[in-house]
Amino acid sequence: MGTSRGDPVRASFFLDKGGVGKTTAAAHFGVALHEQGHDVLLIDLAGKQGDLAKHFGIWPDVQAADDDWPNIATVFQDQWPAIAEKVPNAVEGLIWDTGEGPDIIPAHRELDGLDDLLGNIDDAADRYSRLDAFLNGYVDGYDVVLIDLPGSTSNVSYNGIWAAQNVVAPVLPGSFEEDQAAELRSDLERIEKNQGITIELAMLMINGIDAQTKAGRHFQEEFGAEYPDAIAPAQVCSSQDIRNAQLDGRTLFALEEPSATAERAIEAYRTNAAELMERLT
Ligand SMILES: Nc1ncnc2c1ncn2[C@@H]1O[C@H](COP(=O)(O)OP(=O)(O)OP(=O)(O)O)[C@@H](O)[C@H]1O
Ligand SMILES: [Mg+2]
Repeated sequence: MGTSRGDPVRASFFLDKGGVGKTTAAAHFGVALHEQGHDVLLIDLAGKQGDLAKHFGIWPDVQAADDDWPNIATVFQDQWPAIAEKVPNAVEGLIWDTGEGPDIIPAHRELDGLDDLLGNIDDAADRYSRLDAFLNGYVDGYDVVLIDLPGSTSNVSYNGIWAAQNVVAPVLPGSFEEDQAAELRSDLERIEKNQGITIELAMLMINGIDAQTKAGRHFQEEFGAEYPDAIAPAQVCSSQDIRNAQLDGRTLFALEEPSATAERAIEAYRTNAAELMERLT
């Protein structure tokens, strides 16, 4: 952990849709921001399958750890403050090294029951602010905290959105691309209304298309007109290397001989990550 310079910047990666590139973006923004000199913590709330830890090749180690309590699900419980006080190194024990710069609090199988646990909390503000309380009270020494969320609205994703008060949303071009963005906007408005908070659509990032094609420019223009403040400066092109690197347990940044498309995707993540910091500070 490095030294903290004021309140850390937080961002949540969310869209109410699966498989759009949220986890990939969280991982690549994390490494890009580390490269740009920030101390980065990644948090995986996106489900027990541990996708974010898998992206860094450490999920087998995380799963094999016999010391897996407390874990990320524990910090949402009523008993957490007492646990944090009694268990030696309770917070440090949650944090792993990705091997590519950022630290990570990985997912855990107990995330499975977390939505129900949160659903049993009567007071809405309390129900949605547990992650915020954890970050405020127990996590120190990071410049940036990036939260990877499930591809659905739930008490868990609301906690991530509440803690960050902003959303970074990748959108996939396809037949429903306009719907994705419109739905996101109405989701965020609903959450703001229910929770009485302001949520910024910090970045809408077009993922998985070739920006140099006519279709790529078309999407960028359409979304840019609709979301002038949120549109990401760079599109992330579709790159088989992303998938391959992920299967290998690393990001594109760790490739020794990145292909031309990988290089373009890396540059896009760098540009967007730097822009995100600008927008959030
Ligand atoms: N730009 C890209 N080019 C090629 N493949 C990509 C790109 N971005 C993401 N992918 C691939 O698409 C799949 C889905 O990506 P990812 O897991 O990041 O999405 P997600 O939104 O987190 O999904 P979920 O909602 O299931 O958590 C992965 O196999 C990933 O490797
Ligand atoms: Mg994911």
